[in-house]
Amino acid sequence: MIAEYPPTLLAEVKEKTKDRQLTGFTPGQGPLNPDLMLVGEAPGRHEEKVNIPFSGASGQELMKLIESIGYSRSTVYITSVVRQRPYSIKKVVDKKTGEVIEKKPNRTPTKKEVLAFAPLFDWELAQVKPKIIVTLGNTALQRLLGSQANISKLHGQLLHEKIQRTNDAHDGYELTADKHWIMPMYHPAAVLYARRLEPTIKADWQQLGQDIKKMKK
Ligand code: URA
Repeated sequence: MIAEYPPTLLAEVKEKTKDRQLTGFTPGQGPLNPDLMLVGEAPGRHEEKVNIPFSGASGQELMKLIESIGYSRSTVYITSVVRQRPYSIKKVVDKKTGEVIEKKPNRTPTKKEVLAFAPLFDWELAQVKPKIIVTLGNTALQRLLGSQANISKLHGQLLHEKIQRTNDAHDGYELTADKHWIMPMYHPAAVLYARRLEPTIKADWQQLGQDIKKMKK
């Protein structure tokens, strides 16, 4: 398991996100030096409650996929590029009582929020040292490969690329000197709203299973 996140990095994130609609803190979880480091977008409502990454509905989909290639929650490292739940504030009228109530649904993190958490993610990646980084969805993919990278073009293809890391000033990104193995995948929640993607997602994971076998030979 990973050691505690460095307090100085946590303090920096706290300062940069103090006026933002972000809540909770779900740490990454899993063994060091794993074959796979799975990188999502941000925790959702369920993750915020139980503090375990990918433990809600999309987590159930993810577990089926990792188990389909012989891994389990305990043999992979699971994290996301943002460690707090991003929410928006919506006022809705309760149909039964007519009362106006405030809801705080999940939302996609902004680029600024992803950048605020970037030093923490860079540190985590340096500790975990996975063989392959599996990005789940566009937010994680673009954090590592830049905003021109697109999941619908790159899904299921094992890439060997320099990745983005925070620059010295922590106000933008620079490319790493060394290359990393990256497998871009659709976010597992995609099957929950687009069932037609299911065969593609399953095939991408089978491809990853074969690529790992080849890599270990
Ligand atoms: N989506 C993510 O990216 N991470 C989680 O932990 C849950 C949903």
